[in-house]
Amino acid sequence: MVSVNVKAPTNIALVKYWGKNPLWEKFHIPMKSSLSFTVGDLYTETTLEVEDGSGELSFYLNGEEITPERKEFEYVDKYIKKLFELFPETKKYNYHVESKNNFPTAAGFASSASGFAAMAKALQGAMKELEPQLYEKYFADDAKLSVFARLGSGSATRSIPSEGGVVIWHRGIDPNYPFGPEEVSPSTKEHVIFSSYAESLFPAEHWPELRIIYTKVRKGEKAVKSRAGMKMTVKTNPLHRQWVEYEESVMLPRVVNAIREKDFEALAKDTMKLSNGLHAMMLYTEPRIRYLNDTSEQIIDAVLDLNESEVKAAYTFDAGPNAVVFTLAKYENEVSSRLAEIVGEENVFVTKMGKGPAFI
Ligand code: PMV
Repeated sequence: MVSVNVKAPTNIALVKYWGKNPLWEKFHIPMKSSLSFTVGDLYTETTLEVEDGSGELSFYLNGEEITPERKEFEYVDKYIKKLFELFPETKKYNYHVESKNNFPTAAGFASSASGFAAMAKALQGAMKELEPQLYEKYFADDAKLSVFARLGSGSATRSIPSEGGVVIWHRGIDPNYPFGPEEVSPSTKEHVIFSSYAESLFPAEHWPELRIIYTKVRKGEKAVKSRAGMKMTVKTNPLHRQWVEYEESVMLPRVVNAIREKDFEALAKDTMKLSNGLHAMMLYTEPRIRYLNDTSEQIIDAVLDLNESEVKAAYTFDAGPNAVVFTLAKYENEVSSRLAEIVGEENVFVTKMGKGPAFI
């Protein structure tokens, strides 16, 4: 039996991922590249035990056993089965997973990102011991490992690079690539699967003054899971393709540049535009997807108000009502007390960029 303990951070996207390449849906190949900050103090800790067996899975989340009829079990189970499909030798083991988040699951704080990043990192440790050849070929470096995290959850791809900091997830194949996995040779299939990976662009130390403020709007499960939501967007939103094209050709290079130059004003304006763009894509989906609530809107108003004479903060929202606000050390107190007026001090959590996953 091999037992591995890891810790993996979550990440917050500036340039968002929303939509998979329909032919490669199962392998979570995105339509466009995305960019995120690795988050310092929000993480998942996972213990993985692997022993001889026949591909069985048991899963505990935050101390509770997750039984097979639960959605969370299905996600992890599907993930393990993809591993078996790609590497049949991994099926001769049983997998026991215990994960703990230090933040609420499924409330829009991207727990699936740190969760599957931790899972992939733990598998890396286990495969090094149990299947050294497989490890050397597919698990040994961060780029490949990010592919394995991706097979669990798209955003988890960006939580893998060890250096953390600012991470780009390259989309890989062109969104118009016309062949699906069943129509290409096994080596082309492998090439396509590994074409979409993450890497760190700037280390966490690149911008020490940058602050990331998590603002918890409400507890509880989100209404539409991101996986189902983005699928609906790709299928029913006629503007999605233009959004993909515009963000990749115009917004992504601009944001990378603002980060390179540490130009907070430019970064803040684009961050808010990108978040608004994502939620516009959601609203133009049929049926409409709405994640923001009245408190989220209040936070948006507060940030715009703070920025009246000088740009001090930027909001961004994922598939939930919680806000993540970026600011600089010199504005931290002003911005966080303003947020605390809306959601209460206990729901405001200030952190910075951090490093990627590690064995503990
Ligand atoms: O990783 P998923 O399938 O839960 O998708 C996450 C999508 C967003 O959080 C809304 C955007 C992003 O890029 O993280």
